[in-house]
Amino acid sequence: MGGPVVLGIESSCDETGAGIVQDGRLLAHVVATSMDEHARFGGVVPEIAARAHLHSFNPVVRQALDRAGLRIGRIDAVAVTTGPGLSGALQVGLAGAKSVAYAAGVPLYGVHHLAGHVAADTLEHGPLPEPCVVLIVSGGHTSLLLVRDLVRDPILHLGDTLDDAAGECFDKVARLLGLPYPGGPAIDRAARGGDPKAVAFPRPLTGPGDDPYAFSFSGLKTAAARWVEHHRRRGAEVPVADAAAALQEAVADVLTRKALAACRAHDVKTLVVVGGVAANSRVRALAERRCASAGIELRVPAMTLCTDNGAMIAAVGDLLVRAGAEPAPLDVSIDPSAPLEYASLTPLARPAVRIT
Ligand code: KG4
Ligand code: ZN
Repeated sequence: MGGPVVLGIESSCDETGAGIVQDGRLLAHVVATSMDEHARFGGVVPEIAARAHLHSFNPVVRQALDRAGLRIGRIDAVAVTTGPGLSGALQVGLAGAKSVAYAAGVPLYGVHHLAGHVAADTLEHGPLPEPCVVLIVSGGHTSLLLVRDLVRDPILHLGDTLDDAAGECFDKVARLLGLPYPGGPAIDRAARGGDPKAVAFPRPLTGPGDDPYAFSFSGLKTAAARWVEHHRRRGAEVPVADAAAALQEAVADVLTRKALAACRAHDVKTLVVVGGVAANSRVRALAERRCASAGIELRVPAMTLCTDNGAMIAAVGDLLVRAGAEPAPLDVSIDPSAPLEYASLTPLARPAVRIT
């Protein structure tokens, strides 16, 4: 009963995810992570990630099907992340997705990873209002977008980061502070015991002459490095909690300030914050406060749907199928550095662009 059942596969970094979506509803999703295997290297090791995907692919897909109470024969389409991401990791997910689609005799759709992050929110809060401003904050990307129909219209970039992504800044500073990988959650935890006003970290690109929607986080990372060095040189203990709280405050302040400015300038009443860094408690709290006082609706996915997962890819696949998009050819390949222009990464699989 109901509309087509879509299986989504995600394997662009260190999470192997499988999710099942029908008519915009999440039926089940399962994520396996190789995070612990990378921890001692302080960052994701591509070969280790690819190998872990190979081990996890079948069990993760099988478990997602079991949890949804479905057999493989009930799947009507497969959607898979074809980029951006780590090449070897993407290859494993795509090869697996192709085999499932071929074996089940169903169409395959290649999906942009970041469009998946955007679509994650629809699984909990329903279809996105048009237009909406989307702030994507992940380990590799920081962008402010103007989104209309996610699968039909081109995605308009209002601003992007000029250097590091917000998550990358958290990960790198966490390392400087001696916190474990991944840095974002570790900074979030450490910040609970710190004073956000203890260090006056800069608010990059927030001056009157600056691009209102562009981001830059490498200066913030350098400021944190200098501050740590200053303490160590004097033989003093580094107040890690204060540094974490102040850094988190600076990042949350810049992100939400620019996102709110974009909503006001484009007269948009809904802000959607997605990606791994949307799991940050201070980013969530500050976005909530600022949106409430500006009369803007804030939408943030549940924590488990903020970080990489297969449900978000299934959500894009479900939208593509329901929009009548043509499937991708079976020789579709990965695009590790795909720019975010359309939700679908295979031109064939895009529904006709709306003319308004
Ligand atoms: O979206 P995601 O899972 O993977 C990418 O597509 O990059 O994002 C991962 C990023 C990492 O940089 C991680 O440190 C950050 O999200 N992150 C957080 C939190 N949870 C994950 N950053 C700050 N606070 C958190 N609670
Ligand atoms: Zn991601």
